[in-house]
Amino acid sequence: MKSDIQRFFRKSLLEISPYKSAREEYIDEGRDMILLDANESPFSSTTNRYPDPMQSDLKEEIASWKNVESDQLYLSNGSDEFISQIILSCCEPGRDHIITLPPTFGMYKVSARIHGVEVKEVPLNQDFQLNTSAILESADEKSKIIFIPTPNNPTANSFEYIAIKKIIEEFPGLVVVDEAYIEFTDKESLIKLLSKYSNLIICQTFSKAQGMAGIRLGMAFAQAELINYINRIKAPYNLNSLTIDAAFKRLREQDQIRKNVNYLIRERKRIVKLLNEISFIKKIYPSDANFVLVVVDNSDLRYKQLLDLNIVVRNASKNLACENTLRISIGLVKENNALITALHKMDKQ
Ligand SMILES: Cc1ncc(COP(=O)(O)O)c(C=O)c1O
Repeated sequence: MKSDIQRFFRKSLLEISPYKSAREEYIDEGRDMILLDANESPFSSTTNRYPDPMQSDLKEEIASWKNVESDQLYLSNGSDEFISQIILSCCEPGRDHIITLPPTFGMYKVSARIHGVEVKEVPLNQDFQLNTSAILESADEKSKIIFIPTPNNPTANSFEYIAIKKIIEEFPGLVVVDEAYIEFTDKESLIKLLSKYSNLIICQTFSKAQGMAGIRLGMAFAQAELINYINRIKAPYNLNSLTIDAAFKRLREQDQIRKNVNYLIRERKRIVKLLNEISFIKKIYPSDANFVLVVVDNSDLRYKQLLDLNIVVRNASKNLACENTLRISIGLVKENNALITALHKMDKQ
C-alpha cells in the first residue's frame, strides 16, 4: 500500500535505484582502508578525496543543534538547490503545479519553470499576510507544493502562525515553510511541528544570520521517510568538503553569531527611525528580517541615485503590490550611516 508520504512524490522517482558509491557500503565500519574505489588522486591534501555523500557527521551536529533526528535533515547546496530538488521530486512537468504567494522569493517560480512545472500564484492580502481561504480554494490534487517564506522576502514580515498551521492541516500537497530569516525574528521556528505533520518541510540556510552565503549550505527538515525519498535523487556529492569543514567551524561560533544577529536587529531599529526622516520615503514596512522594504516616491530614480553614490540596494518594484519599493539590507553601522547620509543628500537635491 502507498504510504501517506509516498503519495507526494513522482511515481518515476519511486522506481529509481539511487546511485551509490562503493564507499557507502563500508563507511560505517570505521576501519582504516586503502581507497582504490573512486579514481581519486592518492596524493594527500584536504580535498583529494570525495566528501561523505550523506554528510553524516555534519548532520549529527546540526540535528542536535536544531533538536531533531539526523535522518530528519537534508543538506543542500544552498536552499536554492533544495527548492529545485523538491520540485523535481514531486511535480510531474505539464501536469502538476506549485503554489506561490506573491510578493515572494523569486526562486520558487524560476525553479518551477526550469523543471517545466506550472506556477499558480495566490497574492498576499493588503497587509502582506496569507490569504488562507483563497489559497485553500485554489488548491487541488495537482497542487503538489506550496512555498511559504516566513519572514517573507521581499516584504520582511512574518506570517501569522494560525494561518500557516491551517494551511499545513488542509493543503493537499507539501508545505515548504522557508525560514531563511528566522534568526532575525522573535517568532518561533515551526520545526517543533515536524513530528505532527507529514506534509511539512522547513528550510533554513547558512546564508543569512549564519553569515556564510559563500559556502552554499541549506538545511531542510522533515519527517525521516520524506527525507529518505529526496535522498534518492540527490547528486551523490552535493556538498563539497570545504563547505562541510566551514559549517563545522561555524557551529562552534554560535555565541558570536548571536551577537551579530543582535547587532543587526539593533541596527534595523536604528535605521528604521532614521529612514522616517527622509521625505521621499513614504512608508517603511515592519521588518522581522535583516532588511527593510520601503516605499519611495520614484524607485527607479532613487535606485539610480544611490548607485551613483556607490550604494547598491534592491529595486523591488517588479514584485506584485510593491510599486516604487526598495529593499535595503541592514549592514554594518558604518555602511548604514553612509546610506543615511546619501539619502539626506538626495533629499536636498
Ligand atoms: C526566502 C529565501 N529563501 C531562500 C533563499 C536562498 O537561500 P540560499 O542562499 O541558502 O540558497 C533566500 C535568499 O535570498 C531567501 O530570501
